Amino acid sequence: MPIASRKTAAAKTSKTSRATKTSKAAPRRASSAGADAIALLRADHKEVSALFEQYEKARAATRKKALVDQICGDLRVHAQIEEEIFYPAVKTALKDRELVPEALVEHASMKSLIEQIEGRAPEGEEFDAKVKVLSEYVKHHVKEEQNELFPKVRATRLDLEELGQRLAQRKAELKGEGDSSTSEVGRSQPVGVEA
Ligand SMILES: [Fe+2]
Ligand SMILES: [Fe+2]
Repeated sequence: MPIASRKTAAAKTSKTSRATKTSKAAPRRASSAGADAIALLRADHKEVSALFEQYEKARAATRKKALVDQICGDLRVHAQIEEEIFYPAVKTALKDRELVPEALVEHASMKSLIEQIEGRAPEGEEFDAKVKVLSEYVKHHVKEEQNELFPKVRATRLDLEELGQRLAQRKAELKGEGDSSTSEVGRSQPVGVEA
């Protein structure tokens, strides 16, 4: 009996560790060329969440402003490539009448908050509150995309590599247009961007 229970325990442990290993080994590629559509969008989500974390720790106004401008710029580009390329493709592939429309409404709320903070001086509690609420909106939206939308998209026959190339290309174009003013917050620029 002790042997049996030891065996069970061992099996359980190895299963758990295997499961952990597998999930850790899931594809996690950089946000530029070569990533499939979902890997690219996930990398964007991760990057912006790290920027929100940096904002929470930041104290100096110049640092806060640089971070907010970076966050707003990144979110605008991300929302735009989803709206122009990803959402229409997945809406058709999934015959979706719910998730994509909801995502678009959420994008609209985020953009309205972005308009209230982008380019403004980061002064006072209200500014911090707006950044905080924006980060909460983003967190909620990202969770829905990653937990509900992306798994459904993965199960379709959509060519995610091709879609990823189109997203990367459009992202590089948009970043090229918007990079002239701010951006010294230590983040790599997309590969192959020509201004
Ligand atoms: Fe989105
Ligand atoms: Fe997204």
